[in-house]
Amino acid sequence: MGLKVEPSGQACGARVTGLNLKADLDPELVAELRTIWLEHHVLAFPGQFLGDDDLERFTLAMGGFGEDPFFAPIPGRKHIAAIRREADEESPLFAENWHADWSFQKYPPAGTCLNAIEIPPLGGDTLFANQHKAWEALSAEQQARYADLVAIHSAKLPYAPDGTYGAKDKGRSMDIRPSEAALAEQTHPLVPAHPETGRRGFYSTLGYIIGIEGMEQSAAIAMLMELQQWQGDARFTYTHKWEPGMLIMWDNRSVLHRATGGYEGHRRELHRTTIAAWTGHLT
Ligand code: SIN
Repeated sequence: MGLKVEPSGQACGARVTGLNLKADLDPELVAELRTIWLEHHVLAFPGQFLGDDDLERFTLAMGGFGEDPFFAPIPGRKHIAAIRREADEESPLFAENWHADWSFQKYPPAGTCLNAIEIPPLGGDTLFANQHKAWEALSAEQQARYADLVAIHSAKLPYAPDGTYGAKDKGRSMDIRPSEAALAEQTHPLVPAHPETGRRGFYSTLGYIIGIEGMEQSAAIAMLMELQQWQGDARFTYTHKWEPGMLIMWDNRSVLHRATGGYEGHRRELHRTTIAAWTGHLT
């Protein structure tokens, strides 16, 4: 059976069927999936019902594991984190702001895999924003404003001991481990070329980006706030609807993502791995 790729019809995303990820992971298929991934940025594989061993095998085939700080892995696994919310949980939603995973690292993960374990009957969509489209839709004058800027990234706002998920965060079922390590800073170009396709796009956004090199802080934050509105504009987005048994994989170098709620009274759990950087530093 050949692969069937159905684009979402939105700004990115495609549904891929005609394969069994528990069994087929030969190098030809992996190469084909990577090509489709670079084209659509977010791939959804419905009806796979993968276990944790399958998720690890898939992640390894796609490039190996990334480094996942600030989360305790699930018991018995080094590289799988649970994105979990209990039915009666009242803590603020996890990951509700646009972000690119771990963009504060020196070599941030190329991609992320999220495997459905328990999907609520409504809500809990994951939103994606195509950052190539966000860049390409700007006029030349607007692009010139951002083209050469260097962004300062840090995990401190969410993961420092006094951050969003720090000591004041109560009643959360996810095993988040804030630490002083979150205070470290790392720079990346604001608009790097994608390391595999060469296509430019905004990388990450306000939140993990905490400033711009050489720019006065209040001016940088004002600019990043305005830019974030643009980056998440509806014309660049894809709303991913979850199904039981679905695996998704996205490219952190070309899309932002964020969680949504709307499933109060229902439990939601997904198992997450990150895919290691392919080619090192972003330029
Ligand atoms: C995440 O950002 O890793 C979680 C996304 C989601 O829960 O939909």
